[in-house]
Amino acid sequence: MSTPLVSIKDMGLRFTAKRTVSAVNQISLELAHGEVLGLLGESGSGKSATLRALLRLYPESRAKVSGQIRIDGQDVLSLKGRALEQYRGGTVSMVFQEPGLAFDPVYTIGQQIVQAIQAHAAVSQQDAAEQALAMLERVQIPQARRRFDAYPHELSGGMRQRAMIALALSCKPKLLLADEPTTALDATVQIQILLLLRELQKEMNMSVIFVTHDIGAAVEVADRIAVMYAGRIVEQGAVADIVHRPLHPYTAGLLASSVGAANKGQPLQAVPGSPPDMSNPPVGCAFAPRCSRASDICRTEAPPVEQLGGRSLACWFPPHSEPT
Ligand SMILES: Nc1ncnc2c1ncn2[C@@H]1O[C@H](COP(=O)(O)OP(=O)(O)O)[C@@H](O)[C@H]1O
Ligand SMILES: [Mg+2]
Repeated sequence: MSTPLVSIKDMGLRFTAKRTVSAVNQISLELAHGEVLGLLGESGSGKSATLRALLRLYPESRAKVSGQIRIDGQDVLSLKGRALEQYRGGTVSMVFQEPGLAFDPVYTIGQQIVQAIQAHAAVSQQDAAEQALAMLERVQIPQARRRFDAYPHELSGGMRQRAMIALALSCKPKLLLADEPTTALDATVQIQILLLLRELQKEMNMSVIFVTHDIGAAVEVADRIAVMYAGRIVEQGAVADIVHRPLHPYTAGLLASSVGAANKGQPLQAVPGSPPDMSNPPVGCAFAPRCSRASDICRTEAPPVEQLGGRSLACWFPPHSEPT
């Protein structure tokens, strides 16, 4: 097996500002070149925090990242200065749910993509402008030349999202972090953007971590799915395995609550209860208070992550084992 592009071991993230919040707890994952991982979970499970920590976006004074993160041969947590700048946007880049986070309202779309290209490669203004325009065309923005000179607010939501993808891909990153990039869009535009992302990913042989709370979107774009709950990855495996035979009760609950081919005609069924407060996480398995299978050990001891036929699972009582 070739070396994975991304290797994360026991990564943790604690916000330390007002009160301590353990947003990410001992997560481990690997990603091969050209592989797409769907990171799935309810709101507040730590998905965005994970991506932002991978990009080193949090100031060290307010957020402590622990564990080991190797991406493209680099020890991410020790990057400094110029190497960190090259890493951000060069090796790894990010698209957000809200393009406002990526674009500065006072510069045109074209100026911002040109700036990004020139920050990471020694190319002339004219070459950078040509590359930027080609990228806007590649993400299927109609009248790309006109949009090049437009300000972010002059574009529709779907077009801004395409422009943000163009910005993120303009330096040909090896890893794209996509944080719910289609959640704010209409259903039809969502599908178009998902298909576009998948196409670009294949064309550039790029690895992607795609964050979503929508299992349908994850199935559409991902090769593998990691399910996150209360800052932990509770189950991780190939899309088909996760969808057809979920082992973690939380994964099974998410599947049952989504409208999909697997449960056509059945009533929507949300996972009862709500996620724990991460400034005061429960002892034991964080899902136990919402789990119909929970037994004494679940409430006192967190289950270890175990490897199980090509997937990983953190549960004391997966299906076919009976609580004692
Ligand atoms: N900057 C921050 N400071 C303190 N707590 C934060 C910060 N950002 C996120 N959190 C907390 O971390 C947890 C995970 O949040 P987040 O990663 O945004 O969840 P998700 O993206 O899965 O919805 C939540 O409990 C949230 O309140
Ligand atoms: Mg989020």
